Amino acid sequence: MSESARPRTAVVGSLNTDLVVRCTDLPRPGETVLGDDVVRLPGGKGGNQAAALARLGVATSIVACVGRDEMGQWLLDTLAEHGADTSLIQHSSRPTGTAFITVDAAGENEIVVAPGANADLDLAHVDLDPFDVVLAQMEVSAQIVEELARRTSSLILNVAPARPVAPATLVRCAVVIANELEAQSLELGELAHCIVTRGSRGAVHYSFGEVVTEEIAPVVDAVDTVGAGDVFCAAYASRFVINDDPKSALRFAVAAGAMATLAHGAQGSLPTTVEVQQWLDRAS
Ligand code: RIB
Repeated sequence: MSESARPRTAVVGSLNTDLVVRCTDLPRPGETVLGDDVVRLPGGKGGNQAAALARLGVATSIVACVGRDEMGQWLLDTLAEHGADTSLIQHSSRPTGTAFITVDAAGENEIVVAPGANADLDLAHVDLDPFDVVLAQMEVSAQIVEELARRTSSLILNVAPARPVAPATLVRCAVVIANELEAQSLELGELAHCIVTRGSRGAVHYSFGEVVTEEIAPVVDAVDTVGAGDVFCAAYASRFVINDDPKSALRFAVAAGAMATLAHGAQGSLPTTVEVQQWLDRAS
């Protein structure tokens, strides 16, 4: 396929420095636990999804906002190394976003995000017309998400983290992706396409509340679930943009999400399309 005929995807979302500490058990409210040394890793749901899409071979541009600081430049460099276009990145006087992440021995995590510069993202001068699909999440302002839903007919919205979204915005999305917790606040019967991820149990695709297709997740020895949902979203978008059928797109995304849990860090184990296909071939 020539470069001009290659479908183009924009990821509109957050870039964060992930400060990760591993511990045996996640602390309960009011509890202090001891962990390992802190590790600094590239993250942010937008960054993870853009890196994953680029690694899957999709022409990907990231639309995000970072601070004028060392972390912001580092995140851009990392994304460029993955093959994402960073020419639409904006800069703000606030510090680059930071996520404080705790991961337990079973690979489960807890995350608190300080959005910083992510909150200053502005779409006023961003041309979305060249993109076949726009993928977004909820670590940017609600106004950005509303604007995206108005300006593009092919918005895939990952409603993570769970925050209030106007029903009129949700019904304009081509696809909404939510985990089980996030899905509790959605009216599935009103959404044309909604995918609910169920962690190690796989995912279900609904259309107006009816099940379209369902995939069971493969059994894996997960070491770190941070970013697995982001890889799922990116992998689904990579199939949506080429009009793959719903069953095969969901199967591909579930496999990619599971593969992403096999190494530490949100961008530490991003599979290529060939690697996902090989995994699926072995499984069938
Ligand atoms: O989905 C995982 C991501 O959530 C982390 O990389 C962190 O930055 C938060 O945005």
